[in-house]
Amino acid sequence: MEKEARDIFADMEKEGRRVKDLITFHIMLIGFMGAGKSTVSSYLSKQLNMEEVDTDSLIVKKEGKKIPQIFEEKGEKYFRDCESSILIDLQKRNNLIVSCGGGIVLREENVWNMKKQGRIVLLTATPQTIYERVKDSKERPILNDNMNTEFIAQLMEKRQDKYLAAADIIVATDQKTVEQICDEIIEKLIRLEVKNQ
Ligand code: S3P
Repeated sequence: MEKEARDIFADMEKEGRRVKDLITFHIMLIGFMGAGKSTVSSYLSKQLNMEEVDTDSLIVKKEGKKIPQIFEEKGEKYFRDCESSILIDLQKRNNLIVSCGGGIVLREENVWNMKKQGRIVLLTATPQTIYERVKDSKERPILNDNMNTEFIAQLMEKRQDKYLAAADIIVATDQKTVEQICDEIIEKLIRLEVKNQ
């Protein structure tokens, strides 16, 4: 962690405040499939003592079906409607780490909604890294028949502007440990909050 952020931490500790007190909103993790949202979410949740939720898991629970089954039986639009409605439900809650499905930024209304509720953390990785992380998964219908680096690179390129426009902070995850990634997220969030205060 850089000196400036360490000083902010130290000051906060002196005042008896904790990072969690500074973060009074949802931390929304976005990024392409395999960018590391779930792994980061669970680590960050322990580190900040904040509850974590995952939009895909909430949809699976509500629908009583797994994601590939929802796509197959009801189509992608239905799944995207579920995502939008989950985001609306989250407005009633506070102070969560929200791991978002990779396509959540596709709808402008979702981004707008996320911006109202929290800070948006974009996790990035190269297509090669993504491929290595997701290649054995059968849970992602968008990639199931397209499991190769070229397709991943093309889809990432197509979505890139939307990810960048939504992000409050951006953290690259390639070749970093989850601990390094979370330190970087906390440091950047603190800087953002201090700047906005
Ligand atoms: C999707 C990403 C998936 C899941 C669904 C669609 C996407 O979530 O929401 O398969 O369009 O990028 P993860 O990003 O958690 O894999």
